[in-house]
Amino acid sequence: MSNNYNVAYKRSLADPEGFWGDAAQEIDWIKKWNRVLDSSNSPFYRWFPGAQCNTCYNALDRHADGGRGDQAALIYDSPVTGNTKKTYTYNQLRDEVAKFAGVLRSHGVTKGDRVIIYMPMIPQAAMAMLACARLGAIHSVVFGGFAAHELAVRIDDAKPRVIVSATCGIETNRVIEYIPLLNGAIELATHKPDKCIIFSRPECEVELDPVRDVYWQSAMVDAEPAECVAVAATDPLYILYTSGTTGEPKGIVRDNGGHMVALKWTMKNIYNMNPGDVYWTASDVGWVVGHSYIVYGPLLQGCTTVFYEGKPVGTPDAGAFWRMISEHSIKALFTAPTAFRAIKRQDPEGKLIADYDISCFETLYLAGERTDPDTLHWAEDKLAVPVIDHWWQTETGWAIAANCMGLHPFPVKPGSPTKCVPGWDVQIVDETGHPQVPGTIGEIVIKLPLPPGTLMTLWNADERYLSAYLNEFPGYYKTSDAGIIDEDGYISIMARTDDIINVAGHRLSTGGMEEVLAEHPDVAECAVIGVADQLKGQLPLGFLVLNVGVSRSNDDIIADVIKMVRLKIGPVAAFKLATVIERLPKTRSGKILRGTMQKIADSADYKMPATIDDPVILDEIRTALQSIGYAKRA
Ligand code: COA
Ligand code: AMP
Repeated sequence: MSNNYNVAYKRSLADPEGFWGDAAQEIDWIKKWNRVLDSSNSPFYRWFPGAQCNTCYNALDRHADGGRGDQAALIYDSPVTGNTKKTYTYNQLRDEVAKFAGVLRSHGVTKGDRVIIYMPMIPQAAMAMLACARLGAIHSVVFGGFAAHELAVRIDDAKPRVIVSATCGIETNRVIEYIPLLNGAIELATHKPDKCIIFSRPECEVELDPVRDVYWQSAMVDAEPAECVAVAATDPLYILYTSGTTGEPKGIVRDNGGHMVALKWTMKNIYNMNPGDVYWTASDVGWVVGHSYIVYGPLLQGCTTVFYEGKPVGTPDAGAFWRMISEHSIKALFTAPTAFRAIKRQDPEGKLIADYDISCFETLYLAGERTDPDTLHWAEDKLAVPVIDHWWQTETGWAIAANCMGLHPFPVKPGSPTKCVPGWDVQIVDETGHPQVPGTIGEIVIKLPLPPGTLMTLWNADERYLSAYLNEFPGYYKTSDAGIIDEDGYISIMARTDDIINVAGHRLSTGGMEEVLAEHPDVAECAVIGVADQLKGQLPLGFLVLNVGVSRSNDDIIADVIKMVRLKIGPVAAFKLATVIERLPKTRSGKILRGTMQKIADSADYKMPATIDDPVILDEIRTALQSIGYAKRA
């Protein structure tokens, strides 16, 4: 049956240039493109070559000058700082951003320079991102929950001219001082930034380095506003580092033109948001969700975006989200299922919802991990609005599969993010690349070219881009997710096919954690797996094989490695579980059987791997896991 979704989907695959060329009419260009898609250097495809534009202009000036100047652009709501609230209109946000762009420029930042932004969820984080976009500088936001070492790795890769940070972040009841982390990272890194611009927060006042550092507030006093700089549509807007299979993160590079076209299109067609609507993404600017749907998407669409510095529970209670929706007239909320599991755990009956008028609320969008049917049904039942699971990745920048509420809503199948979004030709193949019949699980791959707004390459690592994503299935992008497409075209995401785990919607590398554990002098060998967790979806769990003759107790060594992961990767790794075992289960060729260990831990069914070198080890693993509360079913 023909509907808007079917029409759009078919056209997007049959005529991608026509489809995205039309979508691009929604953006203000300084100069139009020579052609919509350049495939001449495939698989390095480029969208809108020849075009010139500015992302900040389209996100702010266009609305400020076009009749929305007095409309709220950004609402900041911070329960962790005694309920601070502040609204910036499009005029005010544009002016702040232009001034901060002037500050960056006065410190030598020009087109193509990198700027690292290491900030909490305060409006200045968005201002810094948009100021970079205004100058054509490339921002790289680093999530505040990462430790100094992770920041240092990103500094060395991106080589920023300037770092923008704040004196602290606030986690429910604890102040996280950023300056020691920043200093530690700069000390560890080989590359040194010219300048650090620090936003001073009343919760934490510190001594700055008088030569290297300057306060945001004092720099803004005499700043000359900077105008938007024309950049090529194909110039990078940002680098966002995400977990790979090793401790070395991948720097996802996003362009300016394709990114704007795609995000603006999604705001209407996936999220059904119109200019003037209030759209809230409860996440963090350090993640891709924050880039696309706290900052760029809503502002490109002329919506009001919401910056929430708080948690779903504990700031102050499990009614926080309903208070936000009611107080700010929020029409759509986008968050991770884990946030809803946290709320449900504290208020299973959803009683706190009744304290607020949430009649303005129309749709809940969930992503970052699979929405389990329990959470889906709870949210549907308590909120009485559509609850839309959608699937995407840092690499893709926007949803690959979703129920497109602005095109044609389909019935929801629990556990499925519905169908492929227009632009995405998703296929299920076996390990040799042969298509699977509907309903059979396999590798999820996407036919090239990917639509606009997706990754262009990895920063300074074209070869790694090819080997990580494109070489294994020529002509296709490998998602590293496994799944199924059923007879009706509904897609289900079943598991990652690599060492990535998903903890509270945060993407983490078990390989990266193993690298840290292996540094402990008493650890001979180790493995980290993700075990199922009712709240966070998954939690990392480490297995340690100790050197012969180690004198310290197992408990002490476990305490050490937990501390090491927190210090090296950061609290966000949530690494709190480890056990000591005699040996690791391996195949005869020496590959650690992490998948089997995970199934034992989760009490799931598993087949004895044919290539295992010694099956008895699995019993030892089960016993070790049982001693810490896992592998309950024999
Ligand atoms: N700066 C410093 N530390 C941070 C941090 C930040 N920006 N973000 C998280 N942390 C810390 C937490 O305080 C916690 O520390 P702890 O071990 O001392 O308790 C640790 O990192 C793990 O964080 P998290 O896994 O988020 O657990 P939590 O108990 O603090 O919160 C949820 C659990 C479910 C409430 C929270 O993860 C959440 O709201 N998630 C859903 C939304 C989301 O952001 N998804 C991401 C992508 S869409
Ligand atoms: P990130 O890059 O942090 O967005 O993480 C991307 C990964 O999270 C995907 O490859 C999936 O494994 C998982 N993921 C994200 N959204 C969903 C979803 N809706 N359903 C299932 N898995 C998801």
